[in-house]
Amino acid sequence: MPRPRQLFVTTALPYANGNFHIGHIMEYIQADIWVRFQRMHGSQVHFVCADDAHGAPIMIAAQKAGKTPQQFVADIAAGRKPYLDGFLISFDNWHSTDAPENHHLAQDIYRCLKKEGLIKTRVIAQFFDPEKNMFLPDRFIKGECPKCGSKDQYGDNCENCGAVYSPTELKNPYSALSGATPVLRDSEHHFFALSDPRCVEFLDAWTSEYGHLQSEVYNKIKEWLNPNDSGHRELGDWDISRDAPYFGIEIPDAPGKYFYVWLDAPIGYLASLQNRFAKLAGDARQGEADFKAFLADPATEQYHFIGKDIITFHTLFWPALLHFSGRKTPNAVFVHGFLTVNAEKMSKSRGTGLDPLKYLSLGMNPEWLRYYLATKLTPRNEDIEFNPEDFMTRVNADLVGKYINIASRAAGFISKRFAGKLGAISPDGSGLLDTLRESQEPIAQMYEAREFSKALRETMLLADKVNVYVDANKPWELAKKPGMEERLHDVCTVCIEAFRLLTIYLKPVLPALALKVEAFLNSPPLTFALADAALPAGHTIGDYKHLVSRVDAGQLEALFAAADPVEHAGSATKNISIAATGVARTPANEALAPTIGIDDFAKIDLRIAKIVQCEAVSGSNKLLRLTLDVGETDDAGQSRLRNVFSGIASAYQPEQLVGQLTVMVANLAPRKMKFGISEGMVLAASHADEAKHPGIYILNPWPGATPGMRIH
Ligand code: 2FM
Ligand code: ZN
Repeated sequence: MPRPRQLFVTTALPYANGNFHIGHIMEYIQADIWVRFQRMHGSQVHFVCADDAHGAPIMIAAQKAGKTPQQFVADIAAGRKPYLDGFLISFDNWHSTDAPENHHLAQDIYRCLKKEGLIKTRVIAQFFDPEKNMFLPDRFIKGECPKCGSKDQYGDNCENCGAVYSPTELKNPYSALSGATPVLRDSEHHFFALSDPRCVEFLDAWTSEYGHLQSEVYNKIKEWLNPNDSGHRELGDWDISRDAPYFGIEIPDAPGKYFYVWLDAPIGYLASLQNRFAKLAGDARQGEADFKAFLADPATEQYHFIGKDIITFHTLFWPALLHFSGRKTPNAVFVHGFLTVNAEKMSKSRGTGLDPLKYLSLGMNPEWLRYYLATKLTPRNEDIEFNPEDFMTRVNADLVGKYINIASRAAGFISKRFAGKLGAISPDGSGLLDTLRESQEPIAQMYEAREFSKALRETMLLADKVNVYVDANKPWELAKKPGMEERLHDVCTVCIEAFRLLTIYLKPVLPALALKVEAFLNSPPLTFALADAALPAGHTIGDYKHLVSRVDAGQLEALFAAADPVEHAGSATKNISIAATGVARTPANEALAPTIGIDDFAKIDLRIAKIVQCEAVSGSNKLLRLTLDVGETDDAGQSRLRNVFSGIASAYQPEQLVGQLTVMVANLAPRKMKFGISEGMVLAASHADEAKHPGIYILNPWPGATPGMRIH
């Protein structure tokens, strides 16, 4: 594959009606590894995503929440960052399908299709809820799949067999809003004429062209495209309109009609890309011109990562929409399976089991998960399993035990015995390093082909070879033997170079770790090309600091411990409720601060403090002056008290506080204030929306705590 390349890469756009679950994170990690690999080769990548904002379910959820759909969607969008930052997902842009770019693009694509004669209108009988007095959106009609008979399937497609159908085809339908049996009412609908011979011919050609689809996906798609024994094709015209009330994009010249959410959702890929170009140019007009030029450039490659539940939308409808509106079609659609966590399926709408934010909040390293998932990911559309014991083994035995150990066994000698300078490499070491270098191209090809599991297996086999070398040479024994200084230098240098090469091969999966290694090695950002040239003799490396800790069984236990009751409270409406992941819900949807590790937390010294004195501060109606006993004494054994100013005067009278225990940050640098020096900070809680929810509440430990105790 000639490089560098020019790539446009997307993941499926998540519905803006809930927080991410582990299934989303798995898809983002898969795409992110591929994207980072491409960037390491100097390719220019635009990796974009957006919230899938439209559709009746979101409209209904917003109504229930007492918000406009726009506000509802914005609140969900505000909660995305902690997940994306937390798992090191490097999207270049995040947008919304409700953004103006998407309105324009969707309407433009529709006009092009109409001009081609591929839009038809037809009056159809549609399900109407006689109790709620409205046409029922597909997702609010449930019943049995007309193809495979699975129960409780939605009105538009089957999560079990992937069939796409219209709600009237469901067997034994019922309204998910009221439980009533729906009745049929007439309404004029707009269709994309996919049964037109031009569409069939195009799709036959596009889907069968080598490289566009995985073979197992193509085989599935053929079931829809090819006529069956009685000459009937499953693929019919596609109903792309919905009646008001609907949260979506208006169909031009069709008052009261909106595009069905699945029409404008993939167009959101383009809208997000256009928005990225506008941001890069700093100007919407220029951005649009750049966006058009980028897509018109034959060198541009377009790839979509998606889950197996949305194959038909992406491999039939989407390429046809693009082609017949005169646009570039995807180079490939990469389909992955679902993630099973403790044997429970993580489909899009049923995310439970492994809460991504809980994972982070427990201080679990995001790169453990990236690594573990990568050891499981293949280019095939197959389900993968998260197994806690396996997770622990892969991380502890392979990642830490095999790879990290190489550096930790050699680096100390380089810094202590050789002033941090690397030495020369002798022939036996060179042989080993050549073996590692020879794997560069094969491993690159594995990443390219999304064979991540193979790439990591190969890398760990190389790590095994390095460990055999370490065990054979025993640097810890060389270090004790007189006259073996040079050999020790050589062996440790080989280890460090081997570690550098392995880091290159792992960097797409472990970007934060690679950054730390680059700092430790005093190396420029590692790329695959840098595998060819070793760090020269005499190069100074930094002090080795511990790079990755081992997974602790207790962390996994806590991760899967019975959830807080809040988490299950909304189970009946899990797929439309922002309460789907209880841990992530915060008052006023205030985003959680970026994730920190336990080491960061350990830097904050929180202590139990006794409020010995408390008084108003003259000249301030906000502050109280607290005198705190944190259990400290001076050299003479006298109790040493702290002076702290705290902005809690609106909530407490000084006499209420005297004698109380509370919690303070004891190692905060003293701060000079107008009224004196404040030697710490008292912890207090308040609502993000203070205007609506006034109140400040200082923390108060349970009985038994005494001044000076540390809070862990
Ligand atoms: O299945 C889903 O979660 C959809 N929101 C995916 C949309 S992908 C693209 F078409 F926008
Ligand atoms: Zn089915």
